[in-house]
Amino acid sequence: MKRSEMEKDILKVLVTEEELKKRVDELGEALYEKFEGKTPLFLGVLKGSFIFMADLMRATQLKSDLEFMSVSSYANATESSGRVRIVQDVQHDITGRDIIVVEDILDSGNTLAYLRDYLLGKGAASITIVTLLDKPSRRTKAVNADFVGFVVPDEFVVGYGLDYAQQYRNVPYIGVLKPEVYGQ
Ligand code: IMP
Ligand code: MG
Repeated sequence: MKRSEMEKDILKVLVTEEELKKRVDELGEALYEKFEGKTPLFLGVLKGSFIFMADLMRATQLKSDLEFMSVSSYANATESSGRVRIVQDVQHDITGRDIIVVEDILDSGNTLAYLRDYLLGKGAASITIVTLLDKPSRRTKAVNADFVGFVVPDEFVVGYGLDYAQQYRNVPYIGVLKPEVYGQ
C-alpha cells in the first residue's frame, strides 16, 4: 500500500494490521460460540467502531442484524467530558433482543455505562460488550467489557476507526500520534 503524508504524524505502531486481523477473527469465533442458535443484534457505537464492526461481523457467521447509535461525550479533545448525549438512536424496537454492543475503545467507561443502562431500560434481553481496545487504567465508571481485543496503555491512539479530531480513522493499524500533532 502507498504510505501517506498522514503517517508522518504517527509516532509508533501499537497493534499491527496482522495482529488486528488475527484477534478480530478470534473474537468472531468467541461470539459465534456464545450466540450459536440465537439471532443477536450487533449495535455499533459510531463513529469509531465502523471498521471494527465490518470485520467483526464478517468474522461471526451468525444470523444477526445491525444497528448503529451515535453518542457524543468528547469535543475535539483527548479527554472525556463525562456527559454522554445520544446523537442518533437505534431505528428499531430492541425489546427482548440479545445485543452485542461494539465499541472502539473503553476508556473512562462513561459511554458504555450510559449505553448499557439505556439499552436495558429499552427492554433489551441481554447486553454483551465487545471492545477492540481497553484502557483500564483510566476507568472511572464500573463497566467491563465481555470481550476485549487488546489492552492498551494510557496513550491516545488512532487508526482502524479511531480518530483524533475526526482524522486518522483510515490508518489501517493502531498507532500513537506524535505529541506535537495535538499540541502537547
Ligand atoms: P469513554 O466514554 O471515556 O469510555 O470513551 C469512549 C470513547 O472515547 C470511545 O468510543 C472513543 O471514541 C473515545 N476515545 C477514548 N480514548 C480514545 C483514544 O485513545 N483514541 C481515540 N478515541 C478515544
Ligand atoms: Mg472518537
